[in-house]
Amino acid sequence: MTRSRLGLPDLGVGAGLRVPHYRDILQRQPAVDFFEVISENFMLAGGKPRYHLEQIAERYPLVQHGVSLGIGSPEEPAREYLTALRDLADRIKSPWVSDHFCWCRAGGTELHDLLPLPYTPEAIERVVTRAKRIQDFLGRPLALENTSSYLTYRESSMPEWEFISEVAERADIGLMFDVNNVYVSAYNHDFDPYEFVRNVPHERIVQIHLAGHTNLGRYLLDTHSGPALDIVLDLYRETIELAGPVSTLIEWDEDIPPLEELLAEVERARAVRDGALAARARRSALGLDASAVPARPERYRIVREQDTRRASPGWKQGGPREGVAHEERS
Ligand SMILES: [Fe+2]
Repeated sequence: MTRSRLGLPDLGVGAGLRVPHYRDILQRQPAVDFFEVISENFMLAGGKPRYHLEQIAERYPLVQHGVSLGIGSPEEPAREYLTALRDLADRIKSPWVSDHFCWCRAGGTELHDLLPLPYTPEAIERVVTRAKRIQDFLGRPLALENTSSYLTYRESSMPEWEFISEVAERADIGLMFDVNNVYVSAYNHDFDPYEFVRNVPHERIVQIHLAGHTNLGRYLLDTHSGPALDIVLDLYRETIELAGPVSTLIEWDEDIPPLEELLAEVERARAVRDGALAARARRSALGLDASAVPARPERYRIVREQDTRRASPGWKQGGPREGVAHEERS
């Protein structure tokens, strides 16, 4: 039996650390439970980024999230990269290190993108072998994140949730569960996001990501812009009811708002999380386990916005629900 969250702590609700907020955070020390830092921004020793990071590390717990591991790439991650990753984790005492289920390099070229993997037994073998080795090398739990995606492979022989679950179980690693990514991919590939949420190993979820996305009509783009949609928070509530108290983080990378607005989003997530934990406690008091969380397939069926002409010109924030509201107003 897997220990819940691999024995890792619940850090509460936090936010991604971004440059425009450094000064405000250091001056005001807002009530945020933890911050997540992008590993690659701080891997060079010394300099201003490390100086600010160390100031913030004195006041808040930090966790480390990377975007360049490319664990499923044809080529292995470079040893120097892994060494720098480990050095940073030691320095900021990151309880776990996360990256993505993806590939991002081939033929000696870095593609600087989180490209989806084919969901095949061969890809599982490759990722499991590397994940075990990298986790050992880092000396702390590795968690991999489900990505948002815009393409699928003919070769895939299983759904994404089966792929990530098998890798996590066989490599004995954690899951970084991005609820917005589940929703974006469900919309783009027309699957039920609740089936995804219900069928991953909940005890392996060590952290959750929440973010906003952009509706381009025929598909959703994972822009990390704006607040999370209500429909994504509904999925988050379900995840917490099933998984229990998991560290949760707001990612906001485009049109970064003033700190106040980011903090409001942290509190919005906290309210949903508290409600889900209360529901979970009530079920537990009645002697019911997590499988008693009610299935909600009809309420959350995805309604694809078919009319792409209405979605253009330009991007707009939101998913189908906002699309429908927009159409009702017009
Ligand atoms: Fe994420």
